[in-house]
Amino acid sequence: MKRRKFVKGVAFAGVVGLSTRSIESCNVVKPPFYIATWNNEQAVKTAIEKYSSSSSLLEGLVKGINYVEDNPADQSVGYGGRPDRDGNVTLDACIMDEKGNAGSVCYVQNYKNPISIAHDVMVETPHVILAGAGAESFADRMGYKKENLLTEESKEQYKQWIKKSEYKPIINIENHDTIGMLAYDESKIVGGCSTSGLAYKMAGRVGDSPIIGSGLFVDNEVGACVATGLGEKVLTNLSSFLVVELMRGGVSPEAACKEALKRIIAKEDGTPNFQVGLIAVSKAGKSGAYALYEGFNYVYASATEFWRKPAPYFYTYK
Ligand code: GLY
Repeated sequence: MKRRKFVKGVAFAGVVGLSTRSIESCNVVKPPFYIATWNNEQAVKTAIEKYSSSSSLLEGLVKGINYVEDNPADQSVGYGGRPDRDGNVTLDACIMDEKGNAGSVCYVQNYKNPISIAHDVMVETPHVILAGAGAESFADRMGYKKENLLTEESKEQYKQWIKKSEYKPIINIENHDTIGMLAYDESKIVGGCSTSGLAYKMAGRVGDSPIIGSGLFVDNEVGACVATGLGEKVLTNLSSFLVVELMRGGVSPEAACKEALKRIIAKEDGTPNFQVGLIAVSKAGKSGAYALYEGFNYVYASATEFWRKPAPYFYTYK
């Protein structure tokens, strides 16, 4: 197995002083750019900055997601993630490149950067998914540092939670907010996502994020989609794959995300009591998003501009 080297190239134009544009800014954008779920503005800015020094979309994507994984203040991704109901932080992530190669890890403990490990699964192994102890042993062999991911804050919250042990997802928080990121330039689309999954989930639970076609799908000929929200619903509707297939039929990114969510709604008995958000990018460089509930934002950064937009949605909540 031989590690593929990231291509180093000509530095991209400076990214200092990214300006914030109004949310009314046009959705047709100039490549290259990164978009990400929620308010992960520092992640997309980190990604485009890394791109500027590496000329690698994928390297920028990994670096941008690493930013969130490393941040203990984000309690739904990486270090500081909220644990499962046994008190263990377990992480899921996946990545896809423009050639359709994919790497994924699920149920990883004690390594804070699952997106990097997923990347290495993609480039270093003949497999797509490594799980649990096998993924951890691979991470160890690749030189990743083993560490305790449970911060004092997450531990304290867990201690409070366990007193009642009530498993009650809350719309828009649902005790998680996966970082999903898509990157686009004229010739390539790549994507990745990383999460600690639902807080206080059952031990062993794996969500949509490491499952290709559910949490993420990239087809360089068509576009890409990444999901956040209640993973069980994304898993059972193969939402990211569906969005890409709808775009293949000529549907815009936003309309494709909306239609994929309609399929989820159609299977519910009444109004959904959970959040799912989808973001997508087309081969033409159009981006779009949709959510079940209000409150889901997505962010964009290119070398010259930054914006954050609220995604359109089906439902408001009280
Ligand atoms: N969407 C992330 C999860 O449910 O685990």
